[in-house]
Amino acid sequence: MALQERKLQGHAMMKEMITLELFEVIYQRRSIRSYLRKKVDREILDKIVDAGRWAPTAGNAQAWQFVIVDDPIRITKLKSVSPGIFHEPAFVIAICTDRDAAIARMGPQGAMLALMDVCMAAENILLAACALGLGACVVRSFHQQAVGVMLGCPEGCVTELLIAGGFPDQEPTAPSRKNIEEIRFFNRWEDK
Ligand SMILES: Cc1cc2nc3c(=O)[nH]c(=O)nc-3n(C[C@H](O)[C@H](O)[C@H](O)COP(=O)(O)O)c2cc1C
Repeated sequence: MALQERKLQGHAMMKEMITLELFEVIYQRRSIRSYLRKKVDREILDKIVDAGRWAPTAGNAQAWQFVIVDDPIRITKLKSVSPGIFHEPAFVIAICTDRDAAIARMGPQGAMLALMDVCMAAENILLAACALGLGACVVRSFHQQAVGVMLGCPEGCVTELLIAGGFPDQEPTAPSRKNIEEIRFFNRWEDK
């Protein structure tokens, strides 16, 4: 086989491998709410937040900040105002936006676009955590103002989402999802 052909075949195989791995992570990721009492290295925490940093962001505005909380005392305090956090996470990542700055940069839609950026970053973080053997759960049930104060967020900065995580202490079965046929149309609503 010619070198070029072998290279192409290798490239195709590699692509297939990467694609399969990505889909495995997508299908295997579950919301994990119970964690082992084991610290997660800051290097790993940085890596998963970095995955968030590379998510799509409207107009490349990057209107988010990520506060990683890994101090157990601070986590306990966060939990006291966050009914959506269960058990004892090893870390909580707060994803914050500066809504005013987003509006100034992107106009009246800025705050909504910034929130979309947060969601994009959150999913990358969840997938990266899962790929690295961690469990995580996105949390919206928390007191935004109280969390903002605890984190020392500056004026105008809003905590939009929390991601609680750690080494998983549970293996939940997948919840049901709608069938694709129920929710997917080609070209026009209701066209199957
Ligand atoms: C915007 C949003 C907010 C959520 N808030 C919470 C929360 O406060 N607490 C919680 O335990 N799970 C929360 N979840 C996780 C969902 O309950 C979970 O994704 C859903 O049950 C599906 O399970 P899965 O993630 O394992 O597929 C939230 C998910 C999303 C997308």
